Order: sequence, then structure tokens, then C-alpha cells
Amino acid sequence: MKSILDNRPALTKEVNKVAEVAGYLWQKGWAERNGGNITINITEFVDDEIRQMKPISEVRTIGALMPNLKGCYFYCKGTNKRMRDLARWPMENGSVIRILDDCASYVIIADHPVVPTSELPSHLGVHNDMISKGSPNKASVHTHPIELIAITHSPKFMKKDVATRMLWSMIPETKAFCPRGLGIIPYELPSSLELGEATIKVLEDYDVVMWEKHGVFAVDCDVMQAFDQIDVLNKSALIYIAAKSMGFEPDGMSDAQMQEMTIAFNLPK
Ligand code: 13P
Ligand code: ZN
Repeated sequence: MKSILDNRPALTKEVNKVAEVAGYLWQKGWAERNGGNITINITEFVDDEIRQMKPISEVRTIGALMPNLKGCYFYCKGTNKRMRDLARWPMENGSVIRILDDCASYVIIADHPVVPTSELPSHLGVHNDMISKGSPNKASVHTHPIELIAITHSPKFMKKDVATRMLWSMIPETKAFCPRGLGIIPYELPSSLELGEATIKVLEDYDVVMWEKHGVFAVDCDVMQAFDQIDVLNKSALIYIAAKSMGFEPDGMSDAQMQEMTIAFNLPK
């Protein structure tokens, strides 16, 4: 069977990275059943032959206007598809979509008519926003990391920047690799437009966004780096929980140590 990836090594490499990350998400226990989703903007890899490919689905509406996505192409995880399956068969558990000229709808063009993730409004909204800002980010990852979600069950950590400060203070590298920290979005219905809008807004100020009692959403230049950001933050949450389960509240790095690190690594305050 023919695939859009045939004889396209650069595109194949990007899709294979998604498959690799999907495997990590499953191994970490962050991707129960169909949990989580990934999209990547692949427009830069699209040639004339792809542009002429006939749709293999009906026209589907996004639910919101995406003025900067006209003629863009995305690889998207399929809704209800498992990360552990996507890791082995990315083109059976995800598909390539083309955004139509009305900027409000799309068609699936390859390889199979796999319907994209239910969180598409959040993903596309964020891609639309990144393009408007000239951002080099091309990948967005939503996943269900156990320990980071657990901390959102405490109202203390839902207050502005409390979770970020705690996570940064567990191990110096966290601030170095996640210098703008973890933004918090109070609970919203999964896959809602409201969740998408809140995600765009909070990503203006933070590297990674937490959807209360649900999961995280990260963007970066590629899918591997988006995964790394979540992994670094969750590692800090694990250290916090390990200390708590040994029966004590972890001290965390002192303000002076954090300050020294911020200057030495040239990080934002
Ligand atoms: P999908 O299977 O539609 O991608 O949904 C998974 C999920 O995590 C929703 O938040
Ligand atoms: Zn989810």
C-alpha cells in the first residue's frame, strides 16, 4: 500500500519522532487507553504532489476560525487511538490533514481516513497562534503525566506559580530547561473550545500548561523537545512525591541557590 511517507525521508523522520515519543508516553504510564494526543505542523515538508492529493474524507469543521492555518498540513494522532499502537504504526493511528481556504475546516488526505484527536481545537488554536507570532514551534503534545496531575488535586498548587516554584526548587535543571514554568488552567471540559482558548492565553507566559485534574500541554520546535519539557517537570514532581512518601516535606533549593542558578544560566527571573 502506498504511503505519503514513501520517498519523503524528511517527513518520515518527523513522523518517526512522533512514534518514538508515543512509545515513551506509553512506557511512562502517561498514556492509558487513548490518553493524550500529538500534532505536528508538517507544511514545510509538503510538495506539489501532496498539495494535489485528493481528500479521503468529507470536509470536517474545526469549530473555530484559524486564520493563519490556510493551506497548512498537520500530522495528527487519531481520536480514540492508542499511543502504544501509534508507536509501531503511526500512519494507521494518525493521519495527515489539510486546512481548507475557509480556515475553519479540513480534509484528511493520507494515509487512511483516521479522524484526528478530539483535542484538535486546542492543538490547531495553538499552532495558529504560534504562526501569528513567528514562533519556530512546530509540535504540540498533550499527555496525562501521573505525578504532575496528582499535584493539581491540591488547591495549594493551583495558586499562581506555586507549583512552578516547587518544581523548579526540586533539582536545578528544571528551571534551566523550563525557564518560564508551568501555567495552570482551572478545570475545563476535555476537547472544549474554552480549553483551547485558555491554553493559547496561558502559553503566552509559560512553557508548559497544566489542565487541572486532566493533563499537560507543551509546545516546542519538535516533538522530542516538547516531550523533554514535560519529562523534566514530571521528574521534579516525582522527587517531591518521593520525599513526601519518605515522611518529610522536601526543603527545595533555597532562594539564594535559585537566584545563583538564574544568573549563571542567564534565565528569566
Ligand atoms: P483523543 O483520543 O481524542 O486524542 O483524546 C485523548 C485525550 O487525552 C483527550 O483529552
Ligand atoms: Zn487528555
